Amino acid sequence: MRKLTYFIACSLDGFIGDPGGDASAMLPFVDEEFFAFLKAEYPETIPTQGRRATGIDDLENKRFDTIIQGRASYDLALKEGVTSPYAHLREYVASRTLRESPDPNVEIIADDLVDKVRQLKGEDGEFGIYLCGGSRLAGELLDQIDELVIKSYPLVYGTGMPMFGSGFAVSEFALESARTFGNGVLVRTYSRKR
Ligand SMILES: NC(=O)c1ccc[n+]([C@@H]2O[C@H](COP(=O)([O-])OP(=O)(O)OC[C@H]3O[C@@H](n4cnc5c(N)ncnc54)[C@H](OP(=O)(O)O)[C@@H]3O)[C@@H](O)[C@H]2O)c1
Repeated sequence: MRKLTYFIACSLDGFIGDPGGDASAMLPFVDEEFFAFLKAEYPETIPTQGRRATGIDDLENKRFDTIIQGRASYDLALKEGVTSPYAHLREYVASRTLRESPDPNVEIIADDLVDKVRQLKGEDGEFGIYLCGGSRLAGELLDQIDELVIKSYPLVYGTGMPMFGSGFAVSEFALESARTFGNGVLVRTYSRKR
């Protein structure tokens, strides 16, 4: 089985963005040390535009070959005129309103989201599936998540967009690793206890 990994940036109090979802307050923490970590360990999570701008477009994928995004998250790229924000991955966008895909590399999942994700997880292959977010999509797919990679930034939001837009339910995860950075960022990896 391929793993579904929710790889997500959040505040210390568990918000992935301000109440409207804007995560730009976290960006200054992507400094030289942290960017070097992302490049070395998770190069495929850096959007295509960012990879081009930093001259790392040719880095091979390390962990994921597929990405799933919610339509609201994908909209951020579309607003910039980018139709394939992760061109180095197979891109899926969950949406019931986007009738046609704006890009040949992007497949829309309109129906049976959980079944489709189960199908992707059941494919052969050494690479996993990157669940990019946002909150609502992660909430819908919570039961399918096998791994969490939580990039915690040293910020408190007080309120904002939660990591999971879902109702109350307890799921248990086991800590696999934790790594700290000079600027206070903490990256924790958890696997689901089944
Ligand atoms: N901090 C981070 O690392 C991070 C990462 C990613 C995103 N974000 C933030 O998250 C925000 C967006 O999150 P969000 O919760 O508002 O939206 P989202 O999860 O990105 O997208 C929600 C949309 O996904 C579609 N969808 C959800 N469940 C579906 C299902 N079962 N079947 C088909 N389509 C489904 C629907 O699209 P339709 O309305 O088209 O039907 C829904 O409106 C952005 O502002 C972004 O900045 C932060």
